[in-house]
Amino acid sequence: MSSIIIHAFFHQESYTISYIIHDKQSLEAIIIDSALDFDLQSRAIQTRFADKQIDYIQQYSLSVKWIAETHIHADHLTAAQYIKNQLGGEIIIGRGIINTQAQFNQQFPLHKHSLAIEHQFDRLLQNNDQLTIGQTEITVLATPGHTQDSMTYLIENNAFIGDTLFMPDSGSARCDFQGGCAKTLFTSIQRLYSLPDQTTLWICHDYQPNNRPLGYQTSVQESKMTNIHIQQKTLKDDFIQLRKTRDNNLMPPKLLYLALPFNIQSGVWPIDHNTFSPLPFKGA
Ligand SMILES: [Fe+2]
Repeated sequence: MSSIIIHAFFHQESYTISYIIHDKQSLEAIIIDSALDFDLQSRAIQTRFADKQIDYIQQYSLSVKWIAETHIHADHLTAAQYIKNQLGGEIIIGRGIINTQAQFNQQFPLHKHSLAIEHQFDRLLQNNDQLTIGQTEITVLATPGHTQDSMTYLIENNAFIGDTLFMPDSGSARCDFQGGCAKTLFTSIQRLYSLPDQTTLWICHDYQPNNRPLGYQTSVQESKMTNIHIQQKTLKDDFIQLRKTRDNNLMPPKLLYLALPFNIQSGVWPIDHNTFSPLPFKGA
């Protein structure tokens, strides 16, 4: 019998699915991939979505132990600091964030005075790190490729995989910025495909292709058999070619240059964010 309860929250404006998982006995919880609301026109930040999660935590008398990112997001602003200020908990992310920040600071020298990583995140995770909520163990798997810092959180037979894979009809995530690499992503997906077939894969984004209902969970077996980009039988070179072709035709996320500096600081602006212009609307 499972020792946890999983609750999914859909952030409509960024198509993000954020999760709260708690240990039934201790009521300790982990929040994965939180989000703030951001209005591009007015640049106003609101906390409606995060407040819904805070209400849930309070309603069930949970205590937040971990506020986790599967990776640095380029399409929405994290609510990690906001939630930590309200409820406590430690903000955690993959150690690859160090490279991500170094590259970003090089690209945007204004950011070179931003805070050092250790002041923004409470813990930087490495492959095979073990965390707990109550007596429930969480195994951290490094699954880079979409970004350098991408991590999967494995709890019992549930893998919270970030943007490593999407729902089977949506394939896989792009690899063309933040140190992304299609070859590395292929290897990470093989790692997920080596988990037991019945493992549930919990997805971080769903864009609801062809207006189908929201989907955010699949299984290792289903993805291996039906994912439109990468199945068990897919060859590495074919996947790399597919990703390169597709990535060459994708527009940057519209919040890219707002979300990155904010999220690299775990949810605060490093400098006056009005000096950065978001990209024009040209696609998600
Ligand atoms: Fe992503």
